[in-house]
Amino acid sequence: MELEDLKRQLAQAQAREHQLGETRRAVVNLLEDLDDDRQRLTRAEHEWRAAFDGIRDAIFMHDTQGRITRINRAYRALAGQDAEQALGRPYWEVFPPLPGPLPGCRPVHEHELEVRGSVFRSRAFVTHDDEGNYLFCLHILEDITERRRAELVLRRRSEELAQANRALTQAIEDLTNAERVLVQAEKLAAIGTLASGVAHELNNPLMGVMNYVSYAREKSTDARSRDALTKATRELQRMADFVHNLLVLGRPAGEVLVPVQVQVALERALDLLAADVRKLKVAIRVALPEDLPRVWGTLAPLEQVFINLLLNAFNALENAPVREVCVEGGAEADRVWVSVTDTGRGVPPEARDRLFDPFFSTKAEGHGTGLGLPTSQRIMQGFGGDLVFDPDHHPGARFVLTFRPARFGSDNGTDVSVP
Ligand SMILES: Nc1ncnc2c1ncn2[C@@H]1O[C@H](COP(=O)(O)OP(=O)(O)OP(=O)(O)O)[C@@H](O)[C@H]1O
Ligand SMILES: [Mg+2]
Repeated sequence: MELEDLKRQLAQAQAREHQLGETRRAVVNLLEDLDDDRQRLTRAEHEWRAAFDGIRDAIFMHDTQGRITRINRAYRALAGQDAEQALGRPYWEVFPPLPGPLPGCRPVHEHELEVRGSVFRSRAFVTHDDEGNYLFCLHILEDITERRRAELVLRRRSEELAQANRALTQAIEDLTNAERVLVQAEKLAAIGTLASGVAHELNNPLMGVMNYVSYAREKSTDARSRDALTKATRELQRMADFVHNLLVLGRPAGEVLVPVQVQVALERALDLLAADVRKLKVAIRVALPEDLPRVWGTLAPLEQVFINLLLNAFNALENAPVREVCVEGGAEADRVWVSVTDTGRGVPPEARDRLFDPFFSTKAEGHGTGLGLPTSQRIMQGFGGDLVFDPDHHPGARFVLTFRPARFGSDNGTDVSVP
């Protein structure tokens, strides 16, 4: 019996020992597994840290209260001494100052800030767990100083390029204008040579005929003959005007210029045209400043210029609902300008380039010589000024005269500059 008990106890002891051995092995396995996991975790943490620190952008993370929990190496480099104090403090209080607190740090927000002369783009990303609970927020500060600098250089280059382009366009325009002026001058010179020859030949016999007709009209007692001779005189006057214009066109520049008062030439022209003004019911408004400087020119030709411009304006006003002509003027540093503006039918775009061409006229056959504008321009250029059409004026038409001012050293106008 004792032996039996002993055997049973031995068997039980062996079974327990076996069980213990099993448990020990299981525990050893578990410990080995745990060790593997720990090593993996440590490796993962190392990798994560290396990656976090390896990123060139400065990064910090904060919790739900906005307290900074982690910063990477780039952030440390950027913040310098302030870096270590950042941990545990609200991100909007520490270096670099950021706007905050942002309400729940919106899922993604972006903004730019300047830190010690560098420009950063700050972006924030919020991370949630599987249940949607806020875990942490990651702020990335990307240094975009170089990009901004490059953009600035690019913008400056584009501006320079645009400026160069504008200068080039202007140069081309100037060149085209110069070419136009040259062509116009050549045309005028050729016509002038021909015209002055013809005009010279015609001038003397014409004056003779006018005198004879005048004489005959005075001596005539018969009413019908008198009437016919009056009409003949009028037609002869038209011919004389035409010949006169041709002579102006052909006359070489170089007449002696004197200081002229623009108002005087204008008044004379308006006096001559008073009958037309009444007949057409044109409202004339003259707005020339009283202190408009005198200009270099000659009175009679300037009067002729005003007559030509006013007659053209009256012609354009014939069927216009509003009939107004306005003469304005002003003085600038080195020029005096006077404009003649009407409310007439205006100049169609296709006619604008030809306005100053000799013999260009839209008047009915036999009514216009087309010499009014080119002759006037020639006169103005002879004064060292110009006559141009203003293409920007609508509706109606505006012509602008420019003069060289004869500046006074004193008020009485005697001390004038040299022409
Ligand atoms: N104020 C104006 N409004 C509209 N068109 C105008 C005006 N002034 C000139 N023009 C146009 O320019 C053309 C040329 O004018 P210019 O004075 O040289 O000759 P004209 O008036 O036709 O003839 P002339 O002056 O010999 O009577 C005119 O026929 C007309 O078509
Ligand atoms: Mg005319």
